[in-house]
Amino acid sequence: MLHKTKKPQQRAELPEQAGAAQPLPQGDFAVYVAARGFEHDLLAELGKRVLAQRGRLVLARGARPAAWAHNVWLRPQWLPIQSVGDAVRQLKGIQRNWSLHIPPEHIRRAKLIQEQLPHVSAKAQVFGQPMPAGKLGAWTLWAPELLLASPATTSPYADGEVLFEENKIDPPGRAYLKLWEVFTLLQCFPQAGELCLDLGASPGGWSWVLGKLGATVLSIDKAPLAPQVAALPTVSSCQGSGFELDPRDAGAVDWLFSDMICYPTRLLEAVQRWLAHGQCRNYVCTLKFQAETDYETAQAFAAIPGSRLLHLSCNKHELTWVNLACWREAATQG
Ligand SMILES: C[S@@+](CC[C@H](N)C(=O)[O-])C[C@H]1O[C@@H](n2cnc3c(N)ncnc32)[C@H](O)[C@@H]1O
Repeated sequence: MLHKTKKPQQRAELPEQAGAAQPLPQGDFAVYVAARGFEHDLLAELGKRVLAQRGRLVLARGARPAAWAHNVWLRPQWLPIQSVGDAVRQLKGIQRNWSLHIPPEHIRRAKLIQEQLPHVSAKAQVFGQPMPAGKLGAWTLWAPELLLASPATTSPYADGEVLFEENKIDPPGRAYLKLWEVFTLLQCFPQAGELCLDLGASPGGWSWVLGKLGATVLSIDKAPLAPQVAALPTVSSCQGSGFELDPRDAGAVDWLFSDMICYPTRLLEAVQRWLAHGQCRNYVCTLKFQAETDYETAQAFAAIPGSRLLHLSCNKHELTWVNLACWREAATQG
């Protein structure tokens, strides 16, 4: 059971010009697609750079990584249109593949336009296969006679949501999808024989993924693993607290995973101990927030050299912190 130690933080307010009658941003701006239900977190993250907001779309100065955005439109442009046919002609004139971000209004008109654009296959992602290679632009109908469209985006998935062909039989629960997504996006994952510590492992979705990759997995949780995960030959488990494991006793570790339910501040202290000891190469940890988002601690994680903070498609009120040895080296050298 978690107890509150912090004063709840204020929800971020929209800037004044993000109301209904907002001037259209021009020049150097990008469009950020907020994780569903986390628009206020994205607004807080982008802060004073925000120029306008409509539903899940936040227009802000500059294109930079944003944890609470699933996709960033890198080269947005305003396209006045005279008709549905004109919209189709203009979008096709820029490139073939477009995905529609469904607007809060004029949905029927937007769908009519999308239906006349070349079909883009939206097959579920199969784990282990590379991300779609084709260029996927994104667009929306901002007003009945105005498109906002970007031929370049940071994600090859529509609205940045990775939908997997799920395995509903073997893993216990759906948490395994978080690791599938991280490994697919990073195109990097534990190799056979690498040592992985999985803290907060029960019922065992993450250990199942890691064990199936052939990694040597030590799962730690106060609760037991599901029997089918405990039975994997590459997985061994230990019942207890992940915080009690002292990095000095662990030796060389290839990957440290944590999906423990705990305050982000407590996780940060633990991660700092592991980093200071210098014997663990790669980290994937979930920061789980309670009623209020702890922006300060999220920022402290993001500030660790070589870090990325992501909201994954199946993350709830949480962020996934990833730190790889190769990124740390690049960040500290450059
Ligand atoms: C969201 S679940 C983890 C799901 C897991 N990643 C999976 O794939 O099945 C969170 C787990 O954290 C565990 N937990 C909470 N505090 C812990 C601690 N101090 N040490 C180890 N495990 C802890 C809980 O027992 C719970 O099983």
